Amino acid sequence: MGSSVVLENIYKSFSSQGVVTAELTEEAEVDSTTRSPGSPVLRRINVTVQDGEFMVLVGPSGCGKSTLLRVIAGLEELTAGNIWVGDRLVNDLPPKARDIAMVFQSYALYPHLTVYDNIAFGLRRAPEPRSPEATPALKSGIQERAADLLAALTRKLPKRWRYSSARETAVDERVRTVAQLLQIETLLHRLPKQLSGGQKQRVALGRAMARNPQVFLMDEPLSNLDAKLRAETRSQIVKLQRQLGITTIYVTHDQVEAMTMGDRIAVMNGGRIQQVAPPLELYNRPANRFVAEFIGSPPMNFLTVEFKAPLLVTHPQFRLTLPESWAKALQSYDGRSLLLGIRPEHLSIGAPAPKNLRVQVERVEALGNETDLTVSLEGESSALQVRVAPDLPVKLGEELWLSIAPDKVHCFDLETGIALFVD
Ligand SMILES: Nc1ncnc2c1ncn2[C@@H]1O[C@H](COP(=O)(O)OP(=O)(O)O)[C@@H](O)[C@H]1O
Ligand SMILES: [Mg+2]
Repeated sequence: MGSSVVLENIYKSFSSQGVVTAELTEEAEVDSTTRSPGSPVLRRINVTVQDGEFMVLVGPSGCGKSTLLRVIAGLEELTAGNIWVGDRLVNDLPPKARDIAMVFQSYALYPHLTVYDNIAFGLRRAPEPRSPEATPALKSGIQERAADLLAALTRKLPKRWRYSSARETAVDERVRTVAQLLQIETLLHRLPKQLSGGQKQRVALGRAMARNPQVFLMDEPLSNLDAKLRAETRSQIVKLQRQLGITTIYVTHDQVEAMTMGDRIAVMNGGRIQQVAPPLELYNRPANRFVAEFIGSPPMNFLTVEFKAPLLVTHPQFRLTLPESWAKALQSYDGRSLLLGIRPEHLSIGAPAPKNLRVQVERVEALGNETDLTVSLEGESSALQVRVAPDLPVKLGEELWLSIAPDKVHCFDLETGIALFVD
């Protein structure tokens, strides 16, 4: 039903001159903060979204997520690269011809149409519905249009007077299926002004999905909803996507959404894809410092340490021996600096010892199910984040000894930020 989406060396620049050639060939590194107006907003994007896959695109504000979706939808022109939907190269196709539906953060419903008619709108206008319910009879032109006209003319009449064309029956089935999936069946007769924000957004989703596009693009569709509705609608979208099997690219800056919705997540920063992987792989094996810091909350802690082969890590405040499995990966770092990454949940309160960190508690956030501490370590300019059990009595200003779970540490090259892996 769906199609794969292949993004091949995508570049997008908003300057009128297009991409500077040097930028394309040499891949000049330009920091996003010092970017000149003509430099690309998207840089060499290569991603394959499988047929029927739910891909989440996540990254900080301004990293190019919306631009990438708009390029895929055909609302923005590419500067370089190729976009394939299934086996069709769609680079030069207008948005309508791409068979892609898009839902935005702000939903646009027709205010004078009921929920039912809003969802049915795209279906009625479609020249030839691709929905599986469509029968071959629908294809006979004039007859079909006459039937549509009759149906439209009699739509407002009591049910038994209504004319129902084969197409209208198909539309009706489709609208009801989608409404049921999104739990808005009881709202079908209402006008948009009689709906809450969450209901409106679900209708907008329903309208886009009812069309049964090959690809579904969503740009932060839940960010206008309150937390409870967001969680509810989140699971409905996932369920709906599973049932319809439509290849989906879902943009968010919210990592909880990313972790819970996606088959895979593409992490983006500064116009580049940093890593594409299933949620837990991103958490367990982040490819670089950016991903390590972006995925996980509170974020991972980083400490610069000296490494001594085979396994000794030293910091002015502690000395730690890494598990045997690290020996090979760290061989070439003997006598050099390393960036050590430790997640807040992998620090725990321990006893005074050379391998432990003596810290001072700067902030205590008791969340009920857990307590997050902000602590300072002598000689380190940035504070560390620690997650501890909620029943642990910890006081502001208190001195603690923290122990690092040695089998949970991450190592990064200090200069490049690239992760080093055990295997
Ligand atoms: N039409 C445009 N003209 C010029 N720059 C744009 C345009 N649209 C977006 N940008 C720039 O492209 C970058 C990425 O924007 P966007 O794709 O909206 O990011 P995100 O959706 O990840 O927040 C930003 O620096 C933004 O200012
Ligand atoms: Mg955006």
